[in-house]
Amino acid sequence: MTASIEERQPTPCQPGHPIAFGACRAVTVTSVSEIGWRDTGKLIEDIEANGGPSACQWGMRFDYDNAAGSCSLVEVEGLNGKMIRILLDAGWNRDYMAERFRATGVDRMLTSGEIDFLYLSHEHLDHFWGIEAVLSLAPEITILAPGTLSEEAMAWLAGGSFLQAGITNRTPHRGKLVLLLPGGVHRLAEGVASVTFDMPFWLDIRGEQSLYFNVAEEGLVCVAGCCHQGVINLVDYAVDNLEGGKNLCGLFGGLHIAPLGPMTDEQRETVKALAKYGFRKIAANHCTGAPAIALMHELGYPMVAGSGKDGSQGIDHVGNGDTVRFP
Ligand SMILES: [Fe+2]
Ligand SMILES: [Fe+2]
Repeated sequence: MTASIEERQPTPCQPGHPIAFGACRAVTVTSVSEIGWRDTGKLIEDIEANGGPSACQWGMRFDYDNAAGSCSLVEVEGLNGKMIRILLDAGWNRDYMAERFRATGVDRMLTSGEIDFLYLSHEHLDHFWGIEAVLSLAPEITILAPGTLSEEAMAWLAGGSFLQAGITNRTPHRGKLVLLLPGGVHRLAEGVASVTFDMPFWLDIRGEQSLYFNVAEEGLVCVAGCCHQGVINLVDYAVDNLEGGKNLCGLFGGLHIAPLGPMTDEQRETVKALAKYGFRKIAANHCTGAPAIALMHELGYPMVAGSGKDGSQGIDHVGNGDTVRFP
């Protein structure tokens, strides 16, 4: 069982008083796996057969062979040279994730304790149901999760079974669980901050948390798992509330723009609106749809290319095994 649960209050934001959270020297993000699932048509079919997108994921049965998972390794180099390693999300299919951990060396880092904590962006299946792949290597790892986690998600961490979904976590979490509450900024380390966005999302879940890094003399880097809160909300939060937020260096992650199909007019406007922030490096993957990335290229955004290797979506996505360094 989880050794202890701590609910952590953030520093509330006040208009006109940006919050300082220190600085780091660099941030390197490796996409351990960017593909949440293999076949989008099959995923949609499973969701529809289980009550549609507003039904609760914990009662849904999915084709496990279609499951992959989203997960990244974030390495933060401190101004003092000290490294902090964060595993962002746990993916979905445990065997697939175990293989991705082997391929990227994350397995060794987990067993040796080199990863400081697992940071769960949100409880969606493609980021969270692969938890066994992490816990089987590091059952006592500290987990930082959004304070909006459902009772089902807490039970899953503790070794729960969901009969209707046909899933069991056979390796209960034995470490510390820190729930980062919404309502402000959490300073996780020098130059590292987290914000929990509290809103309802598909499959009847609540809340996603995202990371911000202040790279000295370069600017802020925003890193999201799935970005259900919206990429403009993610970035505006930094602009409005974080010291240095007006100087944006980089953006990494699943940006949740047209993840399952063609773009709407609204999504097209979202992509165009990103121009005003002046990012110097954008690394998009996972739930950033191909048409959204194509438009980013068309608009001349500084897109980072992927290698297209190891089963990732293609060279437009920063994919499996690809690494991006900020600055
Ligand atoms: Fe998600
Ligand atoms: Fe996702």
